[in-house]
Amino acid sequence: MAKFLKVATTGELAPGQAKRVEVDGKVIALFNLEGSYHAIDDTCLHRGGPLSKGPVDGEVVTYPWHGSKFNVKSGDVLTPPARTGVSSYRIRVSGSDIKWKWRPEGIVCDDQSADLTGTGREGWVRESPKASHLGG
Ligand code: FES
Repeated sequence: MAKFLKVATTGELAPGQAKRVEVDGKVIALFNLEGSYHAIDDTCLHRGGPLSKGPVDGEVVTYPWHGSKFNVKSGDVLTPPARTGVSSYRIRVSGSDIKWKWRPEGIVCDDQSADLTGTGREGWVRESPKASHLGG
């Protein structure tokens, strides 16, 4: 059964910043896009580097080692050399707590619910890596 686990507080993550979070055996990159919080896998599938360490511009994080760009809401890869996007996860803000939706392994969800604002908002999720349109 899915449940929400606290992974950070809103005070820890200024707008435009990212934070690496380890929770329940997963490493995720948590982003604050002007008060809208999003989470994707922190590990790039090209060579395994940390997406949370790249600069954020709008909805795009640029991977610091090789320059691939990823959408921080969807996890989609936008530019090579990475060819595969990363998983994205549902986030809920409750008061000052930022919570990540934990699911047992093996459950795939393509829920693309709205990116709501305000207390109790949630990002959208696609919990399985997806092939890019970059070919190869
Ligand atoms: S490790 Fe991510 S682009 Fe190379």
